[in-house]
Amino acid sequence: MQRAKPIIIECMKRLNPDSVLDLGCGKCKFSKLFIDRGINVTAVDKENTIESKDNLIFVQKDIRDFEFKKEFDLVIGTGILHFLKKEEAHKLIKKIKENTFSNGFNFFICMSNEEKYNDKVHFYPNKEELNKLYSDWKIIQNELCLSKKHGEKMHQHKMIIFLAQKV
Ligand SMILES: C[S@@+](CC[C@H](N)C(=O)[O-])C[C@H]1O[C@@H](n2cnc3c(N)ncnc32)[C@H](O)[C@@H]1O
Repeated sequence: MQRAKPIIIECMKRLNPDSVLDLGCGKCKFSKLFIDRGINVTAVDKENTIESKDNLIFVQKDIRDFEFKKEFDLVIGTGILHFLKKEEAHKLIKKIKENTFSNGFNFFICMSNEEKYNDKVHFYPNKEELNKLYSDWKIIQNELCLSKKHGEKMHQHKMIIFLAQKV
């Protein structure tokens, strides 16, 4: 199975947004790249994980209740969708797609159905499920990968890296 890092780097190289939404942002690991470039980022997390500044607006909220008041060029969701039940994730993805500008992108790093924590209730998709959800978009990346080893027990996750463009 491929390693995640080079695929993530490839995806990031393709992105040149004017506006970014990072859902379940944590410390904005992925949107930091855009924050540092002065691009407007809205970041949402249910915990108080980061402070708003200049071009970063932090919204403390459950992503299931986030009200989209405008569209974004890029919506990011990394390490977040498995916290939602399958139906909740499908509903959120529909909203995300609707609130992405034409030619804009959605970028996800999801726990895959091959994860041992997959309880079949929460959103642990396989590549086919993501293909289906984005059948009306151009799918640029949809790859099952191994994360780097981390944590006390140096464990790894089987994740899907997914990038699609609204056509
Ligand atoms: C594994 S961390 C990932 C953080 C970041 N996206 C990243 O890639 O580093 C998951 C984050 O999702 C947040 N989270 C989990 N469920 C959420 C929900 N329903 N609404 C908003 N944030 C949520 C947690 O507070 C946590 O900051």
